[in-house]
Amino acid sequence: MNEVVSLSRPAISPYTLLLANEARAALKSQAPRCLWLTGLSGAGKSTLANALELQLNQQGLHTFVLDGDNLRAGLCRDLGMGADCRRENIRRTAEVARLMVDAGLIVIVAAISPFRAEREAARRLFAAGDFIEVYVSTPFAVCAQRDPKGLYRAAREGRIKDFTGIDSPYEAPLLAECEIDTQTIDMGEACRRLAALLIKK
Ligand code: ADX
Repeated sequence: MNEVVSLSRPAISPYTLLLANEARAALKSQAPRCLWLTGLSGAGKSTLANALELQLNQQGLHTFVLDGDNLRAGLCRDLGMGADCRRENIRRTAEVARLMVDAGLIVIVAAISPFRAEREAARRLFAAGDFIEVYVSTPFAVCAQRDPKGLYRAAREGRIKDFTGIDSPYEAPLLAECEIDTQTIDMGEACRRLAALLIKK
């Protein structure tokens, strides 16, 4: 990763905003949350995030999807796929999710987020119960067979490197609030389970 953080940091004291987070959420009549979907490429994270967002929107809830591929086209366009870049990618994603939750939104993150430590660091940005980790546990063999973007094939043929599950590790969650294997659970049922989790929490 290129040096993105200056070592001589300015002395910053955060300004305490007058309007409380609760006041923003109250106007939306909802409980803001971060629902964090982690899993292999091709596991179904984006499909699930989008189906869930449509459903929540129809229920009158205010949402946003932070999708790894989309963030990497803008905010994170300077980052590659090496371990340091993925850590920075997840740090930025988590900080943006936190700001959106502070703004009153229900945020659905869909990112491979392969490292446990960074997911745990993301969790620590939120109040207890506001961060819900969902392991989209579709097995490697199924993801590799789906290969919707041809990336598994490209990785096997050595055309791309640092590919998750091939020459870059994926650390499965140990304590996810929910696990969804899209091979055995259909989208409708998966959305129902996640929506229930958002309401219950
Ligand atoms: S993460 O590991 O840093 O969380 P993120 O979810 O943002 O990854 O981006 C993953 C997306 O980048 C995949 O959906 C895939 O389309 C694309 N991609 C390109 N190269 C790779 C790679 N080497 N490993 C995994 N995904 C890759």
